[in-house]
Amino acid sequence: MKSKKIVMNETEMPNRWYNLAADLPFELQPPLHPGTLQPIGPDDLSPLFPMELILQEVSRERFIPIPDEVMDILSLWRPTPLVRAEKFEKAIGTRCRIYFKNESVSPPGSHKPNTAVAQAYYNHREGIRTITTETGAGQWGSALSFACNFFGIDCKVFMVRVSYESKPYRKSMINLWGADITASPSNETESGRKILVQDPGSPGSLGIAISEAVELAAKDEKTKYSLGSVLNHVLLHQTVIGEEAIRQMRIAEDYPDVVIGCVGGGSNFAGLAFPFIREKLGGRDIKFVAAEPAACPTLTRGSFNYDFGDTARLTPLLPMFSLGHDFMPAKIHAGGLRYHGMSPLVSALVKNRMILPKAYDQETCFESALLFARSEGIIPAPESSHAIRATIDEALQADAKGQEKVILFNLSGHGHFDMSAYDAFLNSDLMSSELNENDLKRNLASLEELPTIA
Ligand SMILES: Cc1ncc(COP(=O)(O)O)c(C=O)c1O
Repeated sequence: MKSKKIVMNETEMPNRWYNLAADLPFELQPPLHPGTLQPIGPDDLSPLFPMELILQEVSRERFIPIPDEVMDILSLWRPTPLVRAEKFEKAIGTRCRIYFKNESVSPPGSHKPNTAVAQAYYNHREGIRTITTETGAGQWGSALSFACNFFGIDCKVFMVRVSYESKPYRKSMINLWGADITASPSNETESGRKILVQDPGSPGSLGIAISEAVELAAKDEKTKYSLGSVLNHVLLHQTVIGEEAIRQMRIAEDYPDVVIGCVGGGSNFAGLAFPFIREKLGGRDIKFVAAEPAACPTLTRGSFNYDFGDTARLTPLLPMFSLGHDFMPAKIHAGGLRYHGMSPLVSALVKNRMILPKAYDQETCFESALLFARSEGIIPAPESSHAIRATIDEALQADAKGQEKVILFNLSGHGHFDMSAYDAFLNSDLMSSELNENDLKRNLASLEELPTIA
């Protein structure tokens, strides 16, 4: 019998991260200072991040060793299984072979602790006492509170209000690992109060929650800020996913023609895809698909421009696809994909046509999630359901052309805290979520006054 799950031993865990920035066949533009609009240097970032993470952010080293202390914690759940989804293939009725990397097996339930543990470690080494952050769906806040707990660091989480209200047990989980959590926008910060004056019932957004977390960190020397996606060092820490998957595909004696991930800020997609992009640059023929929500179509309908990472314009300007920093996404259930911007690395790869972006309505994603849950048994996070939808599309397209492709997707997390979303779907209560053209144009107008990308 051929193995269904490729499970590696802890001793086979990759012990270095892969830095795609070292191999890119094009130049990356630098982030700009929000005041001077000049390229920023390491010192500009030091109020927010520990120096080791800043150095990783700008590093052009191809491989960066993973510290033993980080490996020790990652080994609580890593390596994660690579699974051949035969029952799902049958349910789709495809001749393609489908594999998924199961990142939902981490204690917080997603890929997010891969970077949370590394970030907490470097903050701890530099004597930081408190870390602030934002969370959308709650997966990132859970992951960072889990990680800070190991290093005795206080953690303060601003959770986007709409998710805070729909997922009360994410709050319990974050409290259980010892962190403090507040619904955003809140009255605890200047940025939050400003939004509440304009819109007391604001559902919040990742852009607003980032402003609140950054504001607190910037005020205190022993407090730093941590971001769960977007930045180069975050994507770097996620590459353990793809490094493991390359080894596991070798054990399975197979190789992907298509690699797929959902994208919010780009980190789980990059974690799986970047090591395979290295292989593509080395001559392999692989297609990469990034799946995003039609309600927040950053890559498919946004502008490639400089923009702020947050609503209150506190962060550096990043060269990225963006819908405008004021963009307020519809209240879709994939809270982790409600972000106006995108990682500069993923953005540049899309711009250079190395990644194909696709957008899906939430209804079609939930249908795909249901098919997956009823065939493979795992209830996916609403975010991950976008990757599942894209996988079905790729399989059906290959079938129509008479091709037998190997498709690999990232199951970025489970949906155990998303039952109200699944209830809404089962009760036919989901809103259609496509962004209309007028709203898009109005939001993109905020980019016109900002620097363009050379
Ligand atoms: C399960 C899950 N998948 C995907 C994402 C999207 O983030 P990223 O694009 O950084 O992987 C999130 C974000 O919260 C998430 O919780």
